[in-house]
Amino acid sequence: VALQPYNSFGIVARAQRLVRVGSGAEVAQLMNSPEWADGAARERAFVLGGGSNLVITGDIKPLVIKVEIAGRRLVDDNAKGWVVEGGAGENWHDFVAWTLEQGWPGLENLALIPGTVGASPVQNIGAYGVELQDRFHSLDAIDLQTGQAFTLDAAQCGFGYRDSVFKHAPAGEKGLGLAGRALITRVRFWLPKPWKPVLGYLDLERKMAETGIHAPDARQIFDWVVAIRRAKLPDPAVIGNAGSFFKNPTVTPEQCADIIARDPKVVHYPMADGSIKLAAGWLIDACGWKGKSVGHAGVYEKQALVLVNRGGATGGEVMTLAKAIQTSVYERFGIRLEPEPVVV
Ligand code: EPU
Repeated sequence: VALQPYNSFGIVARAQRLVRVGSGAEVAQLMNSPEWADGAARERAFVLGGGSNLVITGDIKPLVIKVEIAGRRLVDDNAKGWVVEGGAGENWHDFVAWTLEQGWPGLENLALIPGTVGASPVQNIGAYGVELQDRFHSLDAIDLQTGQAFTLDAAQCGFGYRDSVFKHAPAGEKGLGLAGRALITRVRFWLPKPWKPVLGYLDLERKMAETGIHAPDARQIFDWVVAIRRAKLPDPAVIGNAGSFFKNPTVTPEQCADIIARDPKVVHYPMADGSIKLAAGWLIDACGWKGKSVGHAGVYEKQALVLVNRGGATGGEVMTLAKAIQTSVYERFGIRLEPEPVVV
């Protein structure tokens, strides 16, 4: 099976077989099949959502499970908030738009993020001042080793910046990870009442100043976020990419002061814990990478943090470019950039 249509980077790769699952029952069916019983399939299965935060660098595991579980519903509506549930296979942006149409605001800052509802907790998606963990209630998943269904609350998901238990190997350094082990079937979101807009992000402040609208409703924020993203980020349907390719690094105030002394313009934000977050896009831009290419992989013209497929790029070419960028940022700033997408 060609996997190019199933990853937003548009990388050419193959799997032996692709199984679509539309419900928990279909996952159970797969796990009861002779193919699964021989044990090998378990070891060799790869769970695929929207494929929008993924770099495939070689032969992917033979069996790819494409999660297509549908469904959207209101689970609870009480004095403190709404709980809304989405099937893992629902398109993220359509789900956000639907919650707003229904009159349940809270996800508007996360508009237009590519991918699925089921993938949203994996990297704890975030944008324009809101992270998924701020709106998360719980999720249902199936253990691909035992077939057991289970539910996790926010604490059990171990959310961090673009991070969760689903990104860590079971025997990884972070202890009990669930990478490759959990298949997320449904996610529930907690949308608190009364709704409060999140407008602290510079790009949104700019929109308020431009339009003179200082008390936007959720729909207005949704429209602004869509416009900002369209102006800065490439549409994966047109130019293959996986969003930000590196995490924004954090440094100590001393390290930051050191960098400012040499590069006064470095974009930096103080964090609640006293550390300083630096804009990786700025660091890469400062090293002259914006618009550059290595082979068929390139650095997006309007946002240096986004690597793009200029047509026919292999995962290897993308990683070669990523390594070259890491090396130059390290040589100039002494900072090691960490990739953000899942690399397989
Ligand atoms: N900048 C440059 N040159 C560049 C790119 C950025 O100077 O080429 C500067 C910008 O001018 C700005 C700062 O760097 O002052 C930050 O840029 P931006 O506002 O575009 O956000 P970001 O930090 O690059 C993060 C997330 C995005 C998210 C936006 C908005 C990460 C890794 N990325 O990007 O998330 O949409 O903030 O909240 O945290 C993703 O994770 O895939 C993603 C797209």
